[in-house]
Amino acid sequence: MPKPRLAVIARVGAHRDFLARGLQPQHSASYDTPFGRSNPVHLFAYQDIRFAVLSRHGESGYEVSAPYVNDRANLYALKALGVEKILAWCAPGAINEAMAPGDLVLPHDILDEGRQQPYTFFPHRGLGFVRQNPVFCPELRLALIAGLSRGPFTLHPAGVYTATTGPRLETPAEIHKYKLLGGDLVGMTLVPEVFLARELELCYAPVCYVVNYAEGIKDRPYQPGVLFEGLATPAEIARVQEVEAAFADLILPLLPAVAATPRRCPCPWLMERYRQRGDIGPDWRQWFAHKVEA
Ligand code: HPA
Repeated sequence: MPKPRLAVIARVGAHRDFLARGLQPQHSASYDTPFGRSNPVHLFAYQDIRFAVLSRHGESGYEVSAPYVNDRANLYALKALGVEKILAWCAPGAINEAMAPGDLVLPHDILDEGRQQPYTFFPHRGLGFVRQNPVFCPELRLALIAGLSRGPFTLHPAGVYTATTGPRLETPAEIHKYKLLGGDLVGMTLVPEVFLARELELCYAPVCYVVNYAEGIKDRPYQPGVLFEGLATPAEIARVQEVEAAFADLILPLLPAVAATPRRCPCPWLMERYRQRGDIGPDWRQWFAHKVEA
């Protein structure tokens, strides 16, 4: 069976969107890894391009909140399947008022304001001193900018993603601080996912769609019992739902260009220093042959 070189990591039950577009799943499984069990991975083919789909938060509902997603197991499983490039679909809030709910944003940088999850595949070892500029794969970003500029959704081709831990939302003062620091978006998803992907030398780039203005950016009264307790208006939620409904239609036409990126980016070389030092060998699976902390 040819290997999937691409993966789409998305939110809840993402494989169903591809099924609804008539794509047949070629294989579906969860995998045991040195870091625990992965979420289910579904393999599809589109125009002869094989790709994997993994939902971070579960398949039937929002079962696992952001801080508890096992990014290491999920990324290990994707790498073991042969994946080299990852599109990370995610849904942050906007700190920058120019980024409205329902807009697409392709962040180019990260402000990491959260700490909790395992941040590395190499705890207690002198590995993983990885440079984070460019933090997202520049080749994938170019392919995404070209593919998504055609519309139909407003596209912001750059932005700073502020990463928080969650699952709680931020206070107004925290959002004010992130704004002063240059954050455009705020979310709980991309960190540590991107940093871990880079330790596995994967190309990784996010496609974000704004789901709300962050706390305090707009004056929004508290409303119990609804999504984000009133932080997003019904009209904004309706715009967001349009993007969510278009997820597979946005992603599928991107795949040929994503498949064609030549990987002349830094991503395949991020651990090269350790290979040259002899700390890790050419077979990445052997990097984790010793005991790994959960
Ligand atoms: N803050 C943090 N994470 C989020 C938000 C937010 O406002 N919206 C969606 N994910």
